[in-house]
Amino acid sequence: MKGKLHPKNDVVINPSNNESIHAVIERVDKSRRQFIQTSLSASLVAVFGGIPLRSLVGSASAAPVPPGAGFAGIGFESIPPSRAILDAVTGQILSPLADRVSVPPGYTVDLLIAWGDPITSDAPGWAPNASQGASAQEQQFGMHNDGMHFFPFLKDGQQSSDHGILCVNHEYSHESVLHADGLDELSGGLHGSLVTIEKVRKSQAAHGVSVLEVRRPGNSAWKVLKDSPYARRITANTPVRISGPAAGHNLLKTQEYDLHPSASIPLGLITDGTKAWGTLNNCANGFTPWGTYLACEENWNGYFGWKSPAHSQTKLERRYGITRDGATVTVAPNPATSTYKWHVVDDRFDTDLTPNEPNTFGWRVEIDPTDPSSIPVKRTAMGRFKAESATLATDADRRFGFYMGDDERNEYIYKFVCSRAWDPANPGANKDLLDDGILHVARFTSAAGTSSGTYRGAWIPLLPDTETIFNDGAGGKLKLRQLADFSGANDAEIMGNILVKTRMAADAVGATMMDRPEWVAVRPRIAGFTQLEVYCTLTNNNRRGNLPVSINNPDGSTSAGGARPPVDVANPRPDNDYGHIIRWREDGNTVTATAFEWDIFVFCGDTEAAVHVPAAKTLATTGSYNAAGYDGYIGNINDAPDGSSNFGAPDGLWFDHYGRLWVQTDQFGDGAGDWQKIGSNTMLCADPNTKEVRRFLTSPPRCEVTGVITTPDGKTMFVGIQHPGEEAKSANPTEFSEWPKSQFGGPGGRPRSAVLVITRTDGGVIGT
Ligand code: FEO
Ligand code: CA
Ligand code: CA
Repeated sequence: MKGKLHPKNDVVINPSNNESIHAVIERVDKSRRQFIQTSLSASLVAVFGGIPLRSLVGSASAAPVPPGAGFAGIGFESIPPSRAILDAVTGQILSPLADRVSVPPGYTVDLLIAWGDPITSDAPGWAPNASQGASAQEQQFGMHNDGMHFFPFLKDGQQSSDHGILCVNHEYSHESVLHADGLDELSGGLHGSLVTIEKVRKSQAAHGVSVLEVRRPGNSAWKVLKDSPYARRITANTPVRISGPAAGHNLLKTQEYDLHPSASIPLGLITDGTKAWGTLNNCANGFTPWGTYLACEENWNGYFGWKSPAHSQTKLERRYGITRDGATVTVAPNPATSTYKWHVVDDRFDTDLTPNEPNTFGWRVEIDPTDPSSIPVKRTAMGRFKAESATLATDADRRFGFYMGDDERNEYIYKFVCSRAWDPANPGANKDLLDDGILHVARFTSAAGTSSGTYRGAWIPLLPDTETIFNDGAGGKLKLRQLADFSGANDAEIMGNILVKTRMAADAVGATMMDRPEWVAVRPRIAGFTQLEVYCTLTNNNRRGNLPVSINNPDGSTSAGGARPPVDVANPRPDNDYGHIIRWREDGNTVTATAFEWDIFVFCGDTEAAVHVPAAKTLATTGSYNAAGYDGYIGNINDAPDGSSNFGAPDGLWFDHYGRLWVQTDQFGDGAGDWQKIGSNTMLCADPNTKEVRRFLTSPPRCEVTGVITTPDGKTMFVGIQHPGEEAKSANPTEFSEWPKSQFGGPGGRPRSAVLVITRTDGGVIGT
C-alpha cells in the first residue's frame, strides 16, 4: 500500500468486534466456500426449472399480468406517471414534479443510506453544509450511487434474506453540491482556477464503491451495520492490481505517486504494469458465482486532461475521448459543460505527464466483499472500454459468460466467455477464472432469423488471428495482428494491444455501432423457459442517421462518440430520442455460442402522441433509413390503459429471480418537453413474453433511477436514486430537489443520492 490519503480503505477498523482480522478472513473464507456451492446449486436448479413459480403468485390482490413460461406474473397495478404541469404555450414548468418516490399501494419505501452517511462507527455524520473534506468522505457513503448487488450470508446452509453484504457503485460526483462553496460548471467546464487539490481529493473519495453489511433484525427496518468488519470504501485512489493477459504490458506501466492530501508527489518510479490506483465512474455492475462483485468503469475518460499546450491528442486518447480540458461528462443533462479538471491540480490525471495512466481505467474490477483486506483486481481479459455492466450467464456445465455494453454513442456490445468451467474440486483454480477467456464483440446483421421480426447476429472473437475488414491485397483479409495498432513481438504483446485498445479492435473487425448500450440482463432459465435470452438497453442516440453520415473508422481513428452512422436494422431510429431495448437468443442456448438470433423487444416513447419527430429527420436526410421498419417516436410499449406506462431512455435492466424484467430510466427527468406525458424517471416491470409493462416507481425531479437487486427470497428490493435535483448550482443546491429530506425528513440543505429499501406491507414477494 502506498499513499497517505486512503489507508483506511484497506484496513478494517473494527473496535466493536473482538475477532482478529485473520479470524474474520478465515471465517469468511469458509462462508464463501459455502456461498459458492449454494449459489451454484441455485443457478443449476434454475437451469432445470426447479423454482415453483406458481406458489409465488396468487397472494396478490390483483394480477393484471398473468404468469407465463419462465415468468411469475405481475401482481401490482401500474401507478400513474408523475408529471409536471407545463404552460401550454411556452412549455415552461409551472409546477415541478413531486419531490418524492412513489410505489404501488401495498408497498413501502424506506431510506437505507444516502450520500455522506457514515459507513463505519468512527466515521463522522453527513454535514448538510458539505463542509467536510476528503478524510470524512473516505469513511462515508459515496456520491451518486449506481449499480449494486446483495451478497447474502449463509444461515443454516441457506442464503439469508435478512443479512448480507450490499456492494454499491458510486458513478460520479456533482461538484456544485459536493463542496461547501461549490464548483459550478461554467462555459467550457469547471472553472479551473477554483479547482483545488482539497476539492479533488474529496471528489475522488466520493467515487468508487461502498461495501456495506446490511441486516434486518426480525421484521424491523433494514440497517447498515457500521461496526461491521466488512465495511469498506474503495475510491479513486485505492491500490488495485492489474491481472489477465494485458497485465505487465508496456501500455499499463505508469508513474508511481505518493497520493498525499496536498499533492500527488512523483516517486520517480514506473510500475511493472500490474499495479494501479483506484476505480472511476462505476456505473452498473456485475457479480460472479463465486461471490465477488464486479464494478464497471464507464466514463473514466472525463477525469483526464493535460495542461501543456504542446501535448497533441494521441489516437488512443481520441478514440476513448480524452481531451485537453477533460472530456465532457456524458451524463444528462448537459454534457457540453461539465468536466472535472482533476488534472489541473493532480498530476496523475495529466496525460502529458502520465500518458499510460488512462490505460489503467476502463476495466471490470473484481472485488471480494467478504475479504476486507483484499486488493481489487482489474480483469484485462474482459476488455477496455466505457463499461456499463458485466452480466453473468451460466451454462449447466458451469461455464460462465459475461455480457457488457460500452455506453457511448455508436459503441459496441461485448461478451466475455470464460475458457474454463468452474471446478468444485479445485477452488484454487477458480480464483482467476476472469483472467482466462475470450472477448467477443457483437455484429447484428439484417439476415432473416427463424421467425418474423428476428434477425441473425454473430460474436466476433477479438484475437490476434481474427480477420479484419481490411483487404490483404491477395484476395483475403488482414488479421488483427497485421495492423500496426496491435502488432507486437509475440502473441502476448499483440493480445495486450488488442485488450488495451478494445474499441479499436472492434472497429477493425466490423462490429455493429449501437445506440449507446447500457445495462444487460440475462433471463433466468426457469419454469419451462430454457433459452439463453439476453436483453440490452439502448438508451438513446442523437447522432444516428444524421448527415453527413460517418462511421467509426475501421482504423480506430474516430473520436469518441464522433460518428454519425446511418440507421440500420438494429438501430432503426434516426435521432433516437427515447431509446429501445434489443434482445438476443444464443444459438444452442450456451454462453459459448458464436452466433445468435435477435429482435427488438420494445421501442420506447410516448404512445399517446408522436412528439418530437423533427422535420429534418426524413428519408432524404437519413440515408439508408427504411421507413417500413420505423414507427416515429411513438414507440410500441404494450401498456394498459394507453400511455400509463410510457417510458424512454431505458438504462437499468435486471431480471428478478422469477423472470420479471425490471427497467429503470435515465432521461433528464424534469418532465418537460418531449417527456411531459412520460413524466419523471421511473422503474417499470415487464413481461418478457407478452411485453406488457407496468409502472412500479416514480422518482423526484432531475434524478435517475438506477441500481436494483432483491434479497434471495425476493421480498426486499434495494433501488437506487441518483443525482436528484441535478444541475443545481452551489448558491442554491436545493433549487430543484431536497430529496430525500423532502420525503423522509432528516437533514437537508442539499439533495442526496440514496439507496432505498422497498418491501410489501404484507411481507410478500416484490412484483407478485
Ligand atoms: Fe452511467 Fe451509461 O450510464
Ligand atoms: Ca447507466
Ligand atoms: Ca444513462
